[in-house]
Amino acid sequence: MPRNRVVLGLQWGDEGKGKVIDLLAADADLVVRCQGGANAGHTVVVGGKKTVLHLLPSGVLNPNARCIIGHGVVLDPIALCHELDELLAGGSDVAPRLVVADRAHLVLPSHPHLDRAQEAAKGAGKVGTTLRGIGPCYTDKAARTGVRAGELCDLKACEARVREHIVRSNVYAKALGAEPLDVDAAMAAWLPSAMRIAPLVSDSIRVLHEAMAGGKSFLFEGAQGAQLDLDVGTYPYVTSSNTGIGGILTGSGLSHKQLGQVIGVVKAYTTRVGSGPFTAELTDARGEALRQRGREFGATTGRPRRCGWLDLVIVGYACRLNGVDAIALTKLDILDGERELPVCTGYRLDGQVLDGPPAKIEDLARVEPIYQTLPGWDKPSTGARTFDALPKQAQDYIRFIEQRIGVPVKWIGTGAARDEIVVR
Ligand code: GDP
Ligand code: IMO
Ligand code: MG
Repeated sequence: MPRNRVVLGLQWGDEGKGKVIDLLAADADLVVRCQGGANAGHTVVVGGKKTVLHLLPSGVLNPNARCIIGHGVVLDPIALCHELDELLAGGSDVAPRLVVADRAHLVLPSHPHLDRAQEAAKGAGKVGTTLRGIGPCYTDKAARTGVRAGELCDLKACEARVREHIVRSNVYAKALGAEPLDVDAAMAAWLPSAMRIAPLVSDSIRVLHEAMAGGKSFLFEGAQGAQLDLDVGTYPYVTSSNTGIGGILTGSGLSHKQLGQVIGVVKAYTTRVGSGPFTAELTDARGEALRQRGREFGATTGRPRRCGWLDLVIVGYACRLNGVDAIALTKLDILDGERELPVCTGYRLDGQVLDGPPAKIEDLARVEPIYQTLPGWDKPSTGARTFDALPKQAQDYIRFIEQRIGVPVKWIGTGAARDEIVVR
């Protein structure tokens, strides 16, 4: 078994990373989030109880794992406190084993405010963000005008900087046609949470390197998915971080030599939340049926997810870009009962066949999917625990993916619960 593992989403997020990470965390000493923020919603179901994690790593339910929020994450103190309280109410005090990176940028009250204002100003061209302030926070980071968690150690100075930030952002918000934020009210809502997380902040790079030197095992948790990557995703309909292996490196402070096995999580069909092209999308009753059976409603925003067939063009592209060693295929059980299963194996654009998505968004919106149709299965795969127990056509579906992508499928999700999985 590899000592260190990375788990990445290979589609548009919500592939079932939370479930896979929860399972693998049983073997990990440290579970590390590296990018994104409270835009993520990672669901873990254990003993019939559902927990949705946004900022805390999904390995948090392993009571022995240390949880690290790395410096590539944009950290919303209010969201983190809310999550800590939810776990506390369930009897689990996570704070003593949680480290927040001192270099992580803080989501300030002005960030969600600007997110809303920018989306409203874009009108029909909106990205469909989670409105968690992710884009504006990463914007400040890149503009070198952000506030980092390490600054919480001098609370007075930090408060002054955040106030200043809100005043400056209000000018922009007004230009976008939004009401300005009330500085005192915003600070009153933000400061208590910021004060509460201050003691958790430390030099995460040192913590990670010491643990690595001490032979500890690591699980790196990707958020979002390859198609939402700021550089190689469906720009501009993406999130504001690097959701692939690059984000794990820059967001943790470890080197490529220390990452270990890369596991790509792929849903057995495709979903997407928010705007932007979606080549294999089903806008008819079949898409609606997948949404209902798969309960495809956002774990963070509750929005209905757009649904479509499995798209191996984007999965292959994501595997190539991220050096994926093994695939965890989730939600196979949701396909139970489908008579036939079209799988997108190529894109056609102006008569040419493409094996990857074109960079230009207008071109991507025009590509036509090339489908290969596989037979479905009428016996249930739900709850199967071995590969042989899966319906034969389901086994063939998995082998087809392996052959087309050239990466082995090592885990197969057959239900939402922790133990509803085939390990090959
Ligand atoms: P994440 O963001 O990648 O962690 O995924 P989400 O938690 O947003 O969405 C995945 C949803 O699918 C959650 O409701 C999970 O409980 C559920 N899920 C994960 N794996 C499986 C599976 O194999 N079968 C079924 N039926 N549900 C699954
Ligand atoms: P997990 O980790 C699915 C999408 C939003 C929007 C775009 C930009 O649960 O897989 P943002 O708020 O990040 O600026 O929104 O990215 N998005 C996600 N979609 N799963 C996620 O996370 C997502 N995080 C962001 O819907 O289209
Ligand atoms: Mg999710």
